[in-house]
Amino acid sequence: MSKKRILVCGGAGFIGSNFANFHKDNYEVIVVDNLLLGDKRNLEEGVTFIEGSVANEDTLNKVGPVDYVFNLAGTSSQPMFNGDGLVEGYVNSVESFMRVLDWSAKNGVKKVLYASTSSLYANNPLPLVETQRVTPPNHYAVTKHLYESASRCFNKVHPEMDIIGFRFMSIYGPNEEAKGQYANLISQFVWDVARGSRPQIWGDGTQTRDFTNVRDVIQGATLAMESDKKFGAEVFNIGTGKSTSLNEVTDAIYKAFGKENDTEYIENPVKETYIKDQHADISKIKKELGFEPSVELSDGIKEQVKNLRMDRIRQTSSDLMRQK
Ligand SMILES: NC(=O)c1ccc[n+]([C@@H]2O[C@H](COP(=O)([O-])OP(=O)(O)OC[C@H]3O[C@@H](n4cnc5c(N)ncnc54)[C@H](O)[C@@H]3O)[C@@H](O)[C@H]2O)c1
Repeated sequence: MSKKRILVCGGAGFIGSNFANFHKDNYEVIVVDNLLLGDKRNLEEGVTFIEGSVANEDTLNKVGPVDYVFNLAGTSSQPMFNGDGLVEGYVNSVESFMRVLDWSAKNGVKKVLYASTSSLYANNPLPLVETQRVTPPNHYAVTKHLYESASRCFNKVHPEMDIIGFRFMSIYGPNEEAKGQYANLISQFVWDVARGSRPQIWGDGTQTRDFTNVRDVIQGATLAMESDKKFGAEVFNIGTGKSTSLNEVTDAIYKAFGKENDTEYIENPVKETYIKDQHADISKIKKELGFEPSVELSDGIKEQVKNLRMDRIRQTSSDLMRQK
């Protein structure tokens, strides 16, 4: 029997490449990526790579028929929308997502998965739950809010194609080097210590995030992709359900390097909109899909430290936006 086929849009990037590599033996996996932030070297042998934008129908037509699509393409963090990036950021995110939905429906795709974001929740009360009312706090979050609304409208016209969104918490893991200054705080801090500089924490380090290893994103997305349940247009949180402070993170990083903690603390330059605490309510994805977070943060950090690839980091930066 021939293998089922998955198209991973934005699959040379951090999350997409981890997902593509994980499935390369059991599925035929095709990645389309315009390399805005991705790196072809993230992809293992056996994954087919097509360079180009998923906003371009001709590029998508090169892929041929697929069973599933996972869209991770788009402008992937708020600082990219700053200054001249604003219009380009919106156009790229919205055009690519709508093209992917339209192409998928025209080509008989069974299910589309896509990345939304926990940034939608801003400083909502904890734990963050899918039923909460959300007010996107920035342009990046607005694009993901639009993805969720557009998916619901689209699914009314094409009920045969499920469209499932994931509100990822703070995701870390391998293959983030091409994101450079936009990479997760854990990668940034690990790289700081590796190059002999001090990680810089804004404030006193008691702020928390729901740090989630990319392997648990693969788990959640795979459960959704392979489920026989019919969901329509649905959104799930993916996280661990736990808050971890930045102090705990830098402790674990220095411990993994076998060094004394030498973190630097500076005044937090972002006052009102700064997210103080974060953790997800993951009961929906547990109940509907059987998801169970599986990677301990200290183990994930040890792996990051063991598998450093400093030569692949796209740019070094102490960009002030990075702790947002
Ligand atoms: N990493 C996280 O913690 C996190 C949290 C919440 C949401 N997300 C969302 O998940 C998705 C993936 O995140 P990531 O961390 O892997 O980001 P990433 O930037 O590493 O991956 C996005 C990939 O999409 C590609 N791309 C961008 N526009 C494209 C286009 N028009 N056509 C083809 N390829 C295009 C980029 O080159 C990149 O490889 C993003 O949408 C991001 O907003 C990520």
